[in-house]
Amino acid sequence: MPDSAIAPVGTPPEALRQSLATRFRKARGRTAELVAPLGAEDLMVRSLPEGAPAKWHLAHSTWFFESRVLIPCDPTYRPFDPAFLDLFAAVDDRFGHHMPAPTQHLLSRPTAAEVMRYRDHVNGAVLHLLDRIDEGRLEDAATRIELGLVHERRHQERLITDVKHAFWSNPLRPAYEPDPRPGPGTPSPQSWTAHPGGVVEIGRAEPVPGADHEGPRHRVMLPPFRLANRPVNCGEYLAFIEDRGYTTPSLWLGDGWEVARAEGWQAPLYWEWRDGGWQVFTLYGMRPLDPAEPVCHVSWYEADAFARWAGKRVPAESEWEAVAADRDAFGNLLGNGNRHPQAGGCQGEPPWQLFGDVWEWTRSPFLPYPGYRAPESEPVGEATAGRFMANRMVVRGGSCVTPFDYATAFTRHFLRPAARTAVTGIRLAEDG
Ligand SMILES: [Fe+2]
Repeated sequence: MPDSAIAPVGTPPEALRQSLATRFRKARGRTAELVAPLGAEDLMVRSLPEGAPAKWHLAHSTWFFESRVLIPCDPTYRPFDPAFLDLFAAVDDRFGHHMPAPTQHLLSRPTAAEVMRYRDHVNGAVLHLLDRIDEGRLEDAATRIELGLVHERRHQERLITDVKHAFWSNPLRPAYEPDPRPGPGTPSPQSWTAHPGGVVEIGRAEPVPGADHEGPRHRVMLPPFRLANRPVNCGEYLAFIEDRGYTTPSLWLGDGWEVARAEGWQAPLYWEWRDGGWQVFTLYGMRPLDPAEPVCHVSWYEADAFARWAGKRVPAESEWEAVAADRDAFGNLLGNGNRHPQAGGCQGEPPWQLFGDVWEWTRSPFLPYPGYRAPESEPVGEATAGRFMANRMVVRGGSCVTPFDYATAFTRHFLRPAARTAVTGIRLAEDG
């Protein structure tokens, strides 16, 4: 069993303890790696109203294991600091803890070093608990830890996208890491994979902690369609901009046009016109626009307007899953490669880059699948997705900053249609 895989039902207790401990260490270690390039000042910055400073992400993901695993499962556990139970609770937690978002960036104390000690304390206590909890209570603790791991992965992606926006908000446009890229890629022509349509099954057959919204498995009737073999690249998106894409109202949904006007959108987030050409801010600093790279940091409204301009459409999530279901979930994901979308290599069977590089907008609103029921006993609150089933669109496939064990063919991530800070891109579709 790969160490990223969830232990199947009926795993013997010793194997379950070991699998959980390995994956817990790995997930927590990855969060620590993500903040390794940051200084104490970087850890304090928050530039987005809905974002959080990296230090808060570090402490809050720890709070989750302390409040949702250790306190309920280990009567001998003593909190690292009882004040942290309120201080680092989920902002909109429904269990009574509440931390108004506007104060997160004011927490110069506890210091970053103290937050790291908090993490070490809780990491040690979770591993100790796994070692000695009796078999009768192991299953409950295992479910809670699995949910904690899902929560940790979601915060890893939010942490890095919040850091990216914070660095971009700095006039110096600093780099988070040195640029590993040798140079611009070579644009590849667009091509298409045909799907015959018919009745297909999508969704998870078995429930997985933290992924209740990805089931139940159900049948969907699809007309024949064609899916683009790679995401839309920056060169193609530039042609949309140069063809007055941002100033032609007939290309836009009404809501999208209003947002684009109100926000003054003229290009994707992080594109800047400098010295007579477009540059793009990345985690590696500013770079000249690379026409071969997948375009990223576009909203659902921009994806939809681009598709209309191109004479195509954005795929439904069922179409995406019907094609992706028999592919390995491998690609440029966090832990596998580069922290910016890359020009595709077009290796193996198309379509390429279904996983990693950019989250791909679908035209599907984030709604329950037929037969969906939110979990009745909800031990950890915010890790369940049912309460977000309004005013969000589904994105698929994961991005270059999505932890590789979070992106699967079933993974349904959900974003507001005007969102641009996640690494979102466009894969086109057309009726077959
Ligand atoms: Fe959270």
